[in-house]
Amino acid sequence: MYYSDELIEEVRSSNDIVDVISSYVRLQKKGGTYFGLCPFHNEKSPSFSVTPAKQMYYCFGCGQGGNVFTFMMKYENYSFTEAVQNLADRAGITLPVGEFTAAEKAKADLKMQLLQVNNEAAKYFYRLLKSEKGQRAYEYLKNRGLSDETITKFGLGYSSNYKDDLYQYIKSKGYTDEVLKESGLFTFSEKGVYDKFSNRVMFPIMDINNRVIAFGGRVMGDGQPKYLNSPETMLFDKSRNLYGLNVARSSRKDSILICEGYMDVIALHQAGFNNAVASLGTAYTSKHASLLKRYTENVYLTFDSDGAGVKAALRALPILRQAGISAKVINMKPYKDPDEFIKNLGAEEYEKRIENARNSFMFEVDKLREETDENDPDKKAKFQKEVATRLLRFSDALERNVYIDAVSEEFMIPKDSLTKTVNTLALTYDGEKTESTIKQEEVKKEKTPMSAGCEAQKTLLTWLIEEQGVYNQIKSYITKKDFVEEPYAKVAEMLFEQLENGEINPAKIINYFGSEEEQNQVAGLFNANIGADLVREEKIKRLVQAVEKVKANSLDYRSKNETDLKEFLNIQKEKDSFKNVKIKIDL
Ligand code: UTP
Ligand code: MN
Repeated sequence: MYYSDELIEEVRSSNDIVDVISSYVRLQKKGGTYFGLCPFHNEKSPSFSVTPAKQMYYCFGCGQGGNVFTFMMKYENYSFTEAVQNLADRAGITLPVGEFTAAEKAKADLKMQLLQVNNEAAKYFYRLLKSEKGQRAYEYLKNRGLSDETITKFGLGYSSNYKDDLYQYIKSKGYTDEVLKESGLFTFSEKGVYDKFSNRVMFPIMDINNRVIAFGGRVMGDGQPKYLNSPETMLFDKSRNLYGLNVARSSRKDSILICEGYMDVIALHQAGFNNAVASLGTAYTSKHASLLKRYTENVYLTFDSDGAGVKAALRALPILRQAGISAKVINMKPYKDPDEFIKNLGAEEYEKRIENARNSFMFEVDKLREETDENDPDKKAKFQKEVATRLLRFSDALERNVYIDAVSEEFMIPKDSLTKTVNTLALTYDGEKTESTIKQEEVKKEKTPMSAGCEAQKTLLTWLIEEQGVYNQIKSYITKKDFVEEPYAKVAEMLFEQLENGEINPAKIINYFGSEEEQNQVAGLFNANIGADLVREEKIKRLVQAVEKVKANSLDYRSKNETDLKEFLNIQKEKDSFKNVKIKIDL
């Protein structure tokens, strides 16, 4: 941990989790818990819960959970330190500087220094563009129709053609080679150090907080590669960032335009479409989709008109659909991309193309049709069947009928015939299976079924924080040592201590777990089903069962793992006597 535990706890307890999450997710109160639509997976009915008493959130749908820090880390893509700093800021707490362990300090320092290096480089490139040396690059950008205002807004620049110009400059600012190696801006070789970007027009890539995390550089004229991009670094993860999103996120428009290139984004912004973004020379992934989902549920794909652009669109559509984003596809023909379209036909015409954008379903059918040979009856039948299969995706009958109408009209398939095919297929349709054939990039981790012992430990821990008074009643039967498997053992150790001191604080416990997986697991175990809505007798019965099971599991576990014979015999004795214990609990 970067700051002292006390300080972290102060920051955490000064930020009410309901307050914080409310500014990102619309929550509704139900009893003592708030519910909303989960921001981490796509859903139609709310299974994302925030419990003020526990200061935790947990999604019953996808199993993500944690405290206020975890939330900020996942939602804002923050590191733990960044989450602490941000929330300290929010609560008006001043954090001391320098409370780091050596290794953590080094890592945080490195990240900070890399940001500074990128920032210095961006400023350097910008100044060079405006200097005499950058004249050709400046003219290049001007010739491509960019105004001075746009050049400044995107911080465009120029990298000199002298081999280590930037390196010398950055070195003069006092950064070490160790740091510069990590920056991705230089090539270190036996012969020396070279600037990676040379004689190129430079596009700084910013994250949503306007920090420069990488660069793209374009050759002026022909040459390979056309665009050179920074490699992935500690700061730069291509699949988690979108070019232009730092501006688009606050454009106050209800949709986002997705295009393919840097220049497309810039041209669109210059023409007033300041909600345009592009991926960074990589295909769209579900990570991009969930990033977009934070800001909008409507996107327009404005990919290149060529075959590759269509292919990219067809790949992106199911990914967006799975994230719960509805997409339309803009036709830019006869021009290649938004940049060229706007240069030739202007913003007003582009606006019309947005209005006439093709619904994603119809776009997919268009493309299927283009691949189908009109004159081949077999292929035509196959086309109809494929369309019908896709129509089954619409579970709402009304919606499905609207599309059946549209498709039969546009593609001249008799409506009766199409309806019949749809209905026949519906009989054997397995929605789950069909949707799962869409390639999921994030393969869900296989869940191994939980053993009864673990289940009982989990339930009992939930009991201990949900029902005051349970602790005093069970402590003669159960100690923290009876929680034998991780993470229950560690959680029990901390929780029992809290219970002894009379301050229950599950959110604090989460801080001890470093990995996301552990945090989810711990959040899950504080939100187990203990049958809160059952009648009293039934509740008592279940609690007694949980106590018995935890004890039995613990005795089994210990006798299996005990190597000391005397201890082993003690455990056997305990086992025997526990058989005769009659557990008495009253709620
Ligand atoms: P395009 O080749 O469609 O270029 O690449 P463009 O955007 O129209 O560029 P201009 O108008 O000729 O300047 C689209 C995007 O793919 C990535 C870049 O992000 C580019 O903006 N790309 C392309 C690369 O990363 N490397 C390349 O060599 C080419
Ligand atoms: Mn272009």
